[in-house]
Amino acid sequence: MSDKAKKRIDELVERINRYDYEYHVLDNPSISDIEYDRLFRELVDLESQHPELAHSDSPTKRVGGEVLDGFRKVEHTLPMLSLANAFGEEELIRFDERLKKTGKSHSYVVEPKIDGLAASLLYESGRLVRAATRGNGTIGEDITHNVRTIKSVPLSLNEDVDIEVRGEIYMRKAAFLALNEARQQRGEPLFKNPRNAAAGSIRQLDSSIAARRDLDMFVYSVAESDEEAKTPHHKVLSRLRSLGFKINDRIKHVQTIREAIRFAKNFEEQRFELPYDIDGVVVKVNERSLYKDIGYTAKNPKWAIAYKFEAEEVLTRIKDIFLQVGRTGQITPVASLEPVDVAGSTVSRATLHNDDYIRAKDIRKGDHVSIKKAGDIIPEVVAVVKERRDGSEKPYSIADKCPKCDTHLRREENEVDLYCPNPECPAKNVQALIHFASRAAMNIEGLGIRLCEHFYNEGYLKKIPDIYNLKKHRKELIKRAGFGEKSIDKLLANIDKSKENSLEHLLFGLGIRFVGQKVSEILAKRFETLDRLMQADKDELLSIDEIGEKIADSVFRYFRDTKRLSMIEDLKEQGLNTRYLGAKDSEGALRGKTFVLTGKLSNMTREEARRQIEAQGGKVTGSVSKNTDYLCAGEDAGSKLGKARELDVTVIDEAELQDMLNRK
Ligand code: IVH
Repeated sequence: MSDKAKKRIDELVERINRYDYEYHVLDNPSISDIEYDRLFRELVDLESQHPELAHSDSPTKRVGGEVLDGFRKVEHTLPMLSLANAFGEEELIRFDERLKKTGKSHSYVVEPKIDGLAASLLYESGRLVRAATRGNGTIGEDITHNVRTIKSVPLSLNEDVDIEVRGEIYMRKAAFLALNEARQQRGEPLFKNPRNAAAGSIRQLDSSIAARRDLDMFVYSVAESDEEAKTPHHKVLSRLRSLGFKINDRIKHVQTIREAIRFAKNFEEQRFELPYDIDGVVVKVNERSLYKDIGYTAKNPKWAIAYKFEAEEVLTRIKDIFLQVGRTGQITPVASLEPVDVAGSTVSRATLHNDDYIRAKDIRKGDHVSIKKAGDIIPEVVAVVKERRDGSEKPYSIADKCPKCDTHLRREENEVDLYCPNPECPAKNVQALIHFASRAAMNIEGLGIRLCEHFYNEGYLKKIPDIYNLKKHRKELIKRAGFGEKSIDKLLANIDKSKENSLEHLLFGLGIRFVGQKVSEILAKRFETLDRLMQADKDELLSIDEIGEKIADSVFRYFRDTKRLSMIEDLKEQGLNTRYLGAKDSEGALRGKTFVLTGKLSNMTREEARRQIEAQGGKVTGSVSKNTDYLCAGEDAGSKLGKARELDVTVIDEAELQDMLNRK
């Protein structure tokens, strides 16, 4: 009986190990989950009936259960080093130049830099006997009990070898999202990102927790002294793969640094589509026989470097998709998200750009997505985590009518964006009013988004010139709940004051397509009066250095539209200034601008910066509010940065501040 049981146990162990390998390492299962579960249960039963026959590395041990009272320290046989960083292509080229100085020819291996935690695995006679964290590089912690639960880590190898390997323990994006979702349902605190979730799971004393966490591991090197290191790195990886380890299959052997850079860039572009987080690319010299000669710094090998990516990316879910109508009528699909922290602020919306973008990425309502801040300002949805789909996601097709006025949307030739062509579209009109009154345009204090919307809905404001007619409704406005006499008078005074603005403010306020603040200023300076600009033909516009075909065309067309012309007439009648007041305005380049300084500046102290800003008429305050024009953020900027982003305050760096100060 027991002979038969032994045979069956041996067979089950062999088969289940093979199925685990196929599923977790090769990503290519050969039996159904049900069949697998049946065999697994059979093995559990047999082992409990015949504990003396159970293998020490039986796959049933992967479910965990071992509970430690503390982590044992482990001294690494060879130190676990870290990598020097390279930011940008030039630093990779310099890395290559340094290596060329050794005089021996070499090639490279390019590997994704997995964003998890490093671990070392020790095998004796093909059996996993110990796993450890990196710790301080010399001494780590024993995490064998938890690593045994990771299904892609072989408990026994295909050969009975003694070997120590190193790699990265990580959590796949899909597993991370599922984990956080379950935690949210149970009211438990959420993990910030997959790396934290992986690290938190490995640092558990009770291995059944790690077992439930769906961890994974890529092996990326063998621990051998430089004397022993003869086999080229890419061959080592093939050998490790044949021993049963999970090796990343995107790793590439290339000949030159140019090729390595191309691959690194490829990874950078694809990073959001990968099923796991990577925070860079590791470029390693392939010829390990050269390692000894190339040598080491105190902490890092000189034969490898980590090329780091930029922008932060986080995962969340799309609750809904809606259309936003801009002041030019441009339609932007926007995702409403489960709120998430990105680069210091909470984000609950992200742009989906346009219909083509949604289709190219196959973005659906309900999808789990990665988002990032483009240029760290407007968050955008970068990619869908398709593995997390459960069938409830709904494909989104952009409506062909304006969500506000129901007009058929139009697409201009060669453009991807849709537009609402209706000049009376309420969404467009409100946006136009908000823009006109905004700080960078006519700077009408008190007339913000909410008031514009309110006055629009109440019928006081329909078109821009109505702003200057508001005073006719003074009595009515005072009677209305919520507006005191004082605040109305203040608002009316601010409106009156705005009539004196220099031409560039008015131009920007009109919201002519492609005419931003900078172009408004160029045009105002060049033509000096609105009338002169209105008469300009396209050639004259094109003769200005900074003005190209697109802007010239847009400006020219704007001033040929009868409705707009009559609106401008109205504004003139109301007494708005239409001249460029250049000289007066530029007195003290930073006049009227409020700055907040935060973080460490490298070329001046904050006190110096304050003096220089004040010398040019600017003001420096201590905290960010909606009245702040610029937050200048130095190194290690803290919560003020988050606050500024929340309030849409322009964030500049030290170099930009310096530019402003130089621009006297
Ligand atoms: S090689 C001596 N390869 O990045 C070289 N590291 O600072 C040791 N990492 O601690 C590392 N993916 O946790 C190497 N393909 C890869 C990697 C990788 C992720 C991590 C590892 C290491 C850190 C380097």
